[in-house]
Amino acid sequence: MQTRLTELLGIEHPVMLAGMGGVSYHRLAAAVSAAGGIGTLGAATMDAATMDAEMAAMRQLTDKPWGVDLLTAMPGDMTAQVQRIIDAGARIFVGALGVPHEVIAMCHDADVLVVNMCGRVHHAVQAVDAGCDLVVAQGTEAGGHTGRVATLPLVPQIVDAVGDRVPVVAAGGIVDGRGVAAALALGADGVWLGTRFIATPEARVSFGYHDALLGADESQTTVSRSYSGKPMRVVANERTAYFDRHPEELAPFPEQMMASIVGGVLHLPTGPDDPNVDPATECYPAGQGVGAIDELVPAGELVARLMAETEAALARIDRLR
Ligand SMILES: Cc1cc2nc3c(=O)[nH]c(=O)nc-3n(C[C@H](O)[C@H](O)[C@H](O)COP(=O)(O)O)c2cc1C
Repeated sequence: MQTRLTELLGIEHPVMLAGMGGVSYHRLAAAVSAAGGIGTLGAATMDAATMDAEMAAMRQLTDKPWGVDLLTAMPGDMTAQVQRIIDAGARIFVGALGVPHEVIAMCHDADVLVVNMCGRVHHAVQAVDAGCDLVVAQGTEAGGHTGRVATLPLVPQIVDAVGDRVPVVAAGGIVDGRGVAAALALGADGVWLGTRFIATPEARVSFGYHDALLGADESQTTVSRSYSGKPMRVVANERTAYFDRHPEELAPFPEQMMASIVGGVLHLPTGPDDPNVDPATECYPAGQGVGAIDELVPAGELVARLMAETEAALARIDRLR
């Protein structure tokens, strides 16, 4: 399937692995790139040495394009971090809080594409005005930090605003080929998937994460400030319920996040190496599509399955005409 996204990135399928902090490490990202999508390392929770080692592992495992997502890098240290990402051979750099002009210029000088995560139409317009090469329209259904506007209304409005200038990629709540077909119907050029890819053997997950995803239905996520201080969609639990009742006890970002790490309820950074996880209070980010996930599927197989399901969904629509 050829879209403006596959052409821009030189990939086979319009499927992007979300750069999930704590989860999208080299095993998962390389498997998605090798399968013809594009894998993005979630570097938000990595220290410098880990990010370098992860990028070296990507180079070793695949000669296909891959990317790095930094999420919250501060403008000061973003330049140095992005230089290392460029030097390591990434094809795309992903930011979420806006990417400064000088960073975009550095990337473009090195033929690295710049991607921005957007939850509102004006975020997308600002990103494209600043020179970003593609935008991800992420609806509130998404796992992790998220906005208030849902994917169905957000994607076509962002397509209308910037789709004549750059490819638009849909994110939030997409877990199968019906979702991919729907995103294409909304005018998107591809999809950016998080939660569905966590339920793979290659994902880097903390204790209990897979069980929490497989056990949750579509109503069991909630947007909570309890883990980072910013609205984050997670599997609802005792801790999110407590802070729903006691919002006055929440600290702002990043103090609340430090409190969660120190308090032993946020193991995304330490991942599978830390056995001290209590699933009743742990931070398990997940999107509303979680209810449709009932098995772990190897990431490469998942990409092939998504594309076959997309073809079937599009054929079904064609038969209705
Ligand atoms: C565990 C987890 C961690 C995430 N970390 C990041 C991140 O570091 N940077 C980022 O841009 N988005 C992050 N996100 C959001 C994803 O990039 C993506 O937009 C979202 O997962 C899409 O929705 P879905 O989960 O319904 O597929 C994260 C999501 C999850 C579930």
